[in-house]
Amino acid sequence: MEIMKVKDYDEMSSQACSFIINKIKQVQSPVLGLATGSTPEGLYKRLIEKYNAQEVTFKDVLTFNLDEYVGLENDDPNSYHHFMNEKLFKHIDIAIERVHVPNGVAENLEKECQDYEKKIKDAEQVDIQVLGLGLNGHIGFNEPGTPFSSRTHIVDLDQSTRQANARFFDSLDDVPDKAITMGIETIMESKEILLLVSGANKREALDRLLNGEISEDFPASILQKHSNVTIIADEEALQD
Ligand code: F6R
Repeated sequence: MEIMKVKDYDEMSSQACSFIINKIKQVQSPVLGLATGSTPEGLYKRLIEKYNAQEVTFKDVLTFNLDEYVGLENDDPNSYHHFMNEKLFKHIDIAIERVHVPNGVAENLEKECQDYEKKIKDAEQVDIQVLGLGLNGHIGFNEPGTPFSSRTHIVDLDQSTRQANARFFDSLDDVPDKAITMGIETIMESKEILLLVSGANKREALDRLLNGEISEDFPASILQKHSNVTIIADEEALQD
């Protein structure tokens, strides 16, 4: 694992932006795996700036998001569809049919999981998967205890994850208790992984990822086994 230590959230975001833009320029039809949450917001803001400055085009890019809440309509302000549209997609030249976010209101959720896997397979391989780090070590919404062999599936969200995400909702009760997420094996099949970590509250989780044992009790620990991981972490998150 390559670790890039940066000063703060802003520097993490601009380094991540350069990393992604380099990849978009190197690869003919780049496939990006994307995350939501607070961590990549600065990255998306910078990608939009670079697009506006005509330094990058997204017309050949294909995207797959990691996850979506079950039960939230696409236009629900708390859905990850809505997040991605507002924070990135509607500001850049990506064609809507080239973006993929799991459908959390599909009539048949099991089929939605299988279809999502198939779409990723048809795209061949994700070139770079962007990840944030959950306080309990989750990646995507793969909570502790999820088998490393998991593919896209429905999960019961941990109470701690619901609490951490309640800041976006009116109340904790409004946070869905289920989500669709790419599985751990699905994530591990990406050619390259870019993990972004910022803030003192992530310090313990990052330390466990880097120095702890590889265990399904801490899903992010599996990243130790991936051959091409870059971690961009700020000073608050990375212990000396
Ligand atoms: C989001 C996702 C989650 C987040 C994680 C960290 O699509 O898959 O694993 O990356 O919960 O969230 P933030 O960035 O809000 O701290």
